[in-house]
Amino acid sequence: MGTRLTVFNQKGGVGKTTTVLNLGAALAQRGQVPLLVDVDAQSHLSSILNPGAPSGESLFAYYNAGKPLKEVVRPIRFGGELIPGHSELIKVDTLFGKGPDILNKLKLGLDAGWNGARPVLIDCCPMLGVLSLSGIFASERVLIPISTDYLALRGALALEKTLKALEYGKDVWMRYILPTQHFIYFGLQAKRAKLDAAGISKAETANVAEILNQTTMMLGHEIFDPETNKRVLVDHAFIVSGGEITKAARNWLGGKLDQTKRSQIIFMDREDILNLFVVTNVPLPVDALPPQSASAFNDEIPF
Ligand SMILES: Nc1ncnc2c1ncn2[C@@H]1O[C@H](COP(=O)(O)OP(=O)(O)OP(=O)(O)O)[C@@H](O)[C@H]1O
Ligand SMILES: [Mg+2]
Repeated sequence: MGTRLTVFNQKGGVGKTTTVLNLGAALAQRGQVPLLVDVDAQSHLSSILNPGAPSGESLFAYYNAGKPLKEVVRPIRFGGELIPGHSELIKVDTLFGKGPDILNKLKLGLDAGWNGARPVLIDCCPMLGVLSLSGIFASERVLIPISTDYLALRGALALEKTLKALEYGKDVWMRYILPTQHFIYFGLQAKRAKLDAAGISKAETANVAEILNQTTMMLGHEIFDPETNKRVLVDHAFIVSGGEITKAARNWLGGKLDQTKRSQIIFMDREDILNLFVVTNVPLPVDALPPQSASAFNDEIPF
């Protein structure tokens, strides 16, 4: 209920803010009252949730003037509250040094204001400075979003070492890694009618066998993605059928594939397709969507 989670990675643009935003909305949707803390001087989270807090009414006022955190919280449309960031937070590292007092200040402020009674999500900047460390020290858990390209994964290993070193200063805490920005490539094998392999007539065997051949080829071959300019492997093959895909057909295909390939196959018959249609067409709650500001994305030419 009152868990504090810091979302951190020293690599920029990996989805930290997006993760805090979505976790916050999900908690609010489940009836909790999350407290979101923006310890990033870029203040992206604040600019989305409740923009415009002046320095004296932001997290900086707590560091600079000792203003209690409870006095700077602002409401969030989807539920819960925000401790807003401010560009002046960039000064914290130089103004207040790096001693234990300053590193524990965020924890003390949160304890004084809420005493562990609320779920707290802390959004960090992409740098392991005083404020990110303060978030980590204030939290029981750290979640590290990583994009799954090669350099980002190497960066994550370095970060893992840094965090391991920090663990000595704490009793217990855990780490979660959340892969983000990973494109999923999938191929599709579609058949019109029922897909069966039990008591097969010659024609029907050919039908399942053909699916097997095409699927194996699909999963083993590189394709070129013109958008990212990269050669990639297909992650999953959907086998889609207008009719039922019988258990026998699934087993027959599964039996012909090795274990790794088996987990890359997703069967989808008529009923699954209908279910998917129903699920993806459930509208999102209005409050979960960003504000429709007329001016922010106004494409009209101003002259
Ligand atoms: N899971 C995801 N898949 C695809 N794109 C994503 C995902 N998460 C975030 N993004 C996009 O990636 C960009 C960077 O995301 P975000 O601002 O959340 O990253 P960040 O780690 O907070 O960045 P910074 O280090 O600058 O604070 C945004 O355009 C966002 O919409
Ligand atoms: Mg961010």
